[in-house]
Amino acid sequence: MLAWTTDPGAPGGLTLGEVPEPAPLPHELLVQVEAFAPNPGDLAALDGAPAGSIPGWDGAGAVLEPAADGLGPQAGERVLFLGLAAQGWAQRRAVPHASTAVAPAEASPEHLATLPVPATSALRAVRRLGAVLGRRVLIVGGTSAVGRFAVQLAARSGAQVIAIARDESRHGELRALGAAEVHATLAGVTRPVHGAIDMIGGQHLVDAYALLEQGGTVIALGHAAGADEHFPYGAFVADPATSDRSITSFFLGTEPGLPAEMALLAADGALDAGPIDVQPWTELAAWVEGGAARGAGRVVLRVDHAPRPR
Ligand SMILES: NC(=O)c1ccc[n+]([C@@H]2O[C@H](COP(=O)([O-])OP(=O)(O)OC[C@H]3O[C@@H](n4cnc5c(N)ncnc54)[C@H](OP(=O)(O)O)[C@@H]3O)[C@@H](O)[C@H]2O)c1
Repeated sequence: MLAWTTDPGAPGGLTLGEVPEPAPLPHELLVQVEAFAPNPGDLAALDGAPAGSIPGWDGAGAVLEPAADGLGPQAGERVLFLGLAAQGWAQRRAVPHASTAVAPAEASPEHLATLPVPATSALRAVRRLGAVLGRRVLIVGGTSAVGRFAVQLAARSGAQVIAIARDESRHGELRALGAAEVHATLAGVTRPVHGAIDMIGGQHLVDAYALLEQGGTVIALGHAAGADEHFPYGAFVADPATSDRSITSFFLGTEPGLPAEMALLAADGALDAGPIDVQPWTELAAWVEGGAARGAGRVVLRVDHAPRPR
C-alpha cells in the first residue's frame, strides 16, 4: 500500500511510497482510510519522529476487517478514528477499537476526519467545567478547530459564551455559532467568568486566570502561541471573591469513552466544523513544506485508492 513516511531530506520532511500492509493486533481493526485531517500535534510531532515512520492521528473511512477480539465496528461500516500512535497518513491503517466510532453511512469522510481530536477535546473540556448552565464561559482561541467546537458545545449546554479571536473578520461567525460576546483580546472581557478553555497559552492563559470568579477553572488545553506564562505577584493571593480558582492541564487521551463520544459527535448533523479545504493527499508534503497554512478552515486530505498507472 501507499503511505506518507517521515523523510528528513524530502520537501515537508515526508515521502509518499510503498510500505508493508498494517498487521492489526487482536484489539485493532483494519480500516481503509478515505480522508485525514492533520492537527497541530501531528505537525509538531513530525520533527521528532523516527525516519520512515507513518505519521497521522485523525481520519475517516470504512472497516475492511473487524478486530479479532470481536469488539468494535464491523466490516463495511463507516468509521472515524483517532490513533495517537499515528500510522494514519496511509491508504490503510490498523487502529484500536477503543479509538474508533461508527458514523452515519451518509456522513462525508471529509467532515468526519475533522472531528476526532478537535471535537472530542472540546466536548471533554466543556464537561470538565461542570454545570455551565447560565454561567459565563470563556473560550480563548475561538477560531481554532477545538475552539469552534467548544463555542458550540458550551452554548448548547446553556453557557453564556465569551469567545476570544484575534481575527475580527471572524467574530460574526463565532456569534452565529452561539457566542454571546466576542473580543479580539481578553482586555475586552470586563466581568468575571465561571470557567475558561484556553487553546492559546502564554499571556492569554495568565489573563484568563485573572478573570476567574471564586471556584472557577481554566483548562489549559492548547499552547498555540508557543509562549511562556509569567504570573505577576498577587495572581494567587486570594480574597473571598477569588478563592479556590484553579488551572488544570489537559490531555485528550487520558480517559476512556472515546467511541461513544466520537459517535455522538459524528451523528450530530448540527455540529458545524466550518469550511473544509479538501486536497488530494498527494499534496500533503507540499502543504507542510509551505507552512501548513489553515486559511479559514481545516485542510483535509482525500486519499486516493485508484491503482497506480504503470
Ligand atoms: N491537550 C490536548 O489533548 C489537545 C487536544 C487538541 C488540541 N490541543 C492543542 O490545542 C491547540 C489548538 O489546537 P487546534 O487544532 O484547535 O489548532 P488550530 O485549529 O491550528 O488553531 C490554532 C489557533 O491558534 C491561534 N493562534 C496561534 N498563535 C496565536 C497567537 N500568538 N496569539 C493568538 N492566537 C494565536 C490561531 O488564530 P488565527 O485563527 O487568528 O490564526 C488559531 O485560532 C494547539 O496547541 C493543539 O496542540 C491539545
